Amino acid sequence: MMTEIEEKLGSEKLNEDPQLTSAVTTIVDRIRVHSSSIDGIRPAFDSKRLSYEEAISRFNEVRGGNLYFPYIGSGLGRGPFVELEDGSVKLDFINGIGTHPFGHSHPDLIETALHAATSDTVMQGNLQQNREGLAFSEALLAAANRCHNTFQHCFLSSTGVMAGENMLKIAFQARQPASRVIAFENCFAGRTLSFSQITDKPAFRVGLPSTLEVDYVPFFDESDPLGSTERAAERLKEHLKRRPKEHAAFIYELIQGEGGFNPGTTRFFRTLMEICREHEVLNLCDEVQTFARTHSLFAFQHFALDELVDGLWIGKSSQTCATLFKSEHKPAPGLLSQTFTSSSGALAVGNRILELLTEGDYFGSHGRIARLAERFHEGLNAIRRDHPNWIRGPYGIGAMTAFTPFEGTPQQAQAMVKTLFEDGLMAFVAGSSPARVRFLWPVGVTQPRHIDIALHKIEAALSKHAS
Ligand SMILES: Cc1ncc(COP(=O)(O)O)c(C=O)c1O
Repeated sequence: MMTEIEEKLGSEKLNEDPQLTSAVTTIVDRIRVHSSSIDGIRPAFDSKRLSYEEAISRFNEVRGGNLYFPYIGSGLGRGPFVELEDGSVKLDFINGIGTHPFGHSHPDLIETALHAATSDTVMQGNLQQNREGLAFSEALLAAANRCHNTFQHCFLSSTGVMAGENMLKIAFQARQPASRVIAFENCFAGRTLSFSQITDKPAFRVGLPSTLEVDYVPFFDESDPLGSTERAAERLKEHLKRRPKEHAAFIYELIQGEGGFNPGTTRFFRTLMEICREHEVLNLCDEVQTFARTHSLFAFQHFALDELVDGLWIGKSSQTCATLFKSEHKPAPGLLSQTFTSSSGALAVGNRILELLTEGDYFGSHGRIARLAERFHEGLNAIRRDHPNWIRGPYGIGAMTAFTPFEGTPQQAQAMVKTLFEDGLMAFVAGSSPARVRFLWPVGVTQPRHIDIALHKIEAALSKHAS
């Protein structure tokens, strides 16, 4: 009888090599040692100020426009804290607009990335993929189908807007010859030629040719839940009646991100999605910003829309972006292809982030994200009670927190964000009327004490601008 000999791949032997494991452990330990000095906000070193300012000017010049913040990271951080090249340390509650859910210099993610760096290639793509892409796609589908068998396929790509483009191409092909889309007023969808037509901000498409016909529906208004739901449904029906069978898809941002952290409700979305179903318009969710930030991994699960969603795309927290879609909309060969799916590191780290998030106590109405959000909201409410003219809000769900400073002019929101940055807290603006200050805090490493530091900085900055 033949006995089966277990054959090992060279890469399996490499990954099990004790010398490799020990080298990786040494590197992670050294990073831990050097990042241990980063344990709170601190100002810039005097000796670095001049060279830093000069580097910022060169950066502004070389990229043909100013950086939003005078920010050049040193490459080291710890949890939600990040060291800059001028020696200052900031509490990073914006995270590259939501891309670092485990903050800076996270030992587990660095270990994952170091192993990924031993891969044969830096980038993976359509023609040559390694095992991480398969693992990531299957894990995303399993997580998305937790309650309902919603999606059967997952296509990976390297940016949020490209994952959206892929979804839109699938939708147009499935619903040809329909050529229009419906989106919400004040939505942000990305900046390619087609997505800058969907993004409801004229300033973002100045000088660009019109590449896509978009019809808009007003978003949910929490001061008038029933009325705004009815108005949105009426407008949707008008569009569908005026241009029968011309719409391929409705694009939903379930919590408007750039629009100011405005969430809709289950009832609001269901009303619109059911109308779209009746008219064979696909319900597509843009979860680039909301992924891993609500009380569920996906915002469509948070709003219990599993049975009505036809497709979605994610980005930011996932490192590698993805389009999830149904078998019945499977594209014909040739429609989707990309030289780069993502880097080996981003695929491996995306997988690990997904594992950490799904195995940890993050989600649910009493999960870590909900508990921390409650503390943040309570603190902002306390500021509002003490100083009723300083802020309105708080707004947002989960790890998307915002407030309106003073009257909510864009100048006031920008001035607040600038002051917060100078004082060591990184935030960003959102919306325009009103304009808000928003935070996308890192769910994996934020502790209650970090929220308290942020609240203290917010109150101090408001007080500077109030006087
Ligand atoms: C809701 C939403 N969709 C799409 C995008 C575009 O993603 P990316 O910048 O990765 O292309 C963004 C980016 O901020 C976003 O917030």
